[in-house]
Amino acid sequence: MAAPITGTLLLSEDRPGLEKAATIIKRGGLVAFPTETVYGLGADATDASAVKRIFAAKGRPADNPLIVHLSDPDQLKTVARTVPDRAYILTEKFWPGPLSLIFPRSDKIPALVSAGLPSVAVRMPDHRTALDLISYSGVPIAAPSANRSGRPSPTTYRHVLEDLAGRIEAVIKSAPCPLGLESTVLDLTGEQPVILRPGGVSKEELEAALGSPVAVAGIKSAPGRPLAPGMKYRHYSPRAALVLVTGPPEKRFALIKALALYFRNRALKVGYLNTALRGRLEPGIGPEELAVTLYSSLRRMDRQGVDIILAEEIDLAGLGLAVMNRLKKAATRILRAGSG
Ligand code: TXA
Ligand code: MG
Repeated sequence: MAAPITGTLLLSEDRPGLEKAATIIKRGGLVAFPTETVYGLGADATDASAVKRIFAAKGRPADNPLIVHLSDPDQLKTVARTVPDRAYILTEKFWPGPLSLIFPRSDKIPALVSAGLPSVAVRMPDHRTALDLISYSGVPIAAPSANRSGRPSPTTYRHVLEDLAGRIEAVIKSAPCPLGLESTVLDLTGEQPVILRPGGVSKEELEAALGSPVAVAGIKSAPGRPLAPGMKYRHYSPRAALVLVTGPPEKRFALIKALALYFRNRALKVGYLNTALRGRLEPGIGPEELAVTLYSSLRRMDRQGVDIILAEEIDLAGLGLAVMNRLKKAATRILRAGSG
């Protein structure tokens, strides 16, 4: 049992820092660590009471399962009960990387990790610090994103401290997460692979690797269609109201301009995400660039006291599917331009 938390330690990514972090994990404590996607809030995935503390620290609903992180693909045999052949095609191509795969859960992993589900989500992060922490700890590490539940995911150690200082034992200080958006969650337990959450590995890349179609779960699940349990909560939300404008590009821009004027006339502070009105950005900013800055922009606008954030729809190709998924979930309103 970990000692009560008084402050949150800021640890370095060198060997002594990571050994200290591993000691905390082995004793049942919580350590936030960088990955290539976002910061994770880690605990020993084989220790039910440590895992329970993750839910408490985040204020996470108990029915939303966690992802188990490995430092070596060989550990898969200990956390998954069975591994279908097609999984190896994907682990060889995309691990380490932003792809979480769902398997039947082994008895080594407490049910709490998966919120009672018979399955478990697993990935190997593409980040030296994360991999070293997992291997020094000697156990698989269960980790959700290291934010308070419902807040935008953290892409820097400062974001983690904003949300969790005093609630967790330690944070590892590192550079901002290079991808900025979470992993793709792919369910391999059914006949056809299904993307439960779009993320860093695109649908196109998965289909090319498997040589067969991959389905994408909708916000509402069709009968028999699995759904990432986390998808039913409002997510990634800034405190400001986010208005997402869809429709033809020429019409979107006109509507954004009108909305900005309308809100400013009512003494509301307006912020811009991916629209030319922001001044610094070109319209049509690519999905990769938007992904890296999305969460940190949402948090920055909250700190600046922005009331209304205006954002535009982007194309669904590649990383666009994941970015649009997050924008839709963060949105308070979705307005279609040019629909009269
Ligand atoms: O990139 C990432 O995936 C980051 C880093 C830290 O690895 N982690 C992350 O975890 O985003 P979290 O907890 O914020 O999101 C995990 C998602 C949720 O939508 C959850 O419902 C889904 O994965 N998930 C986890 N286990 C599952 C399972 N057994 N069945 C279905 N969905 C699952
Ligand atoms: Mg999360």
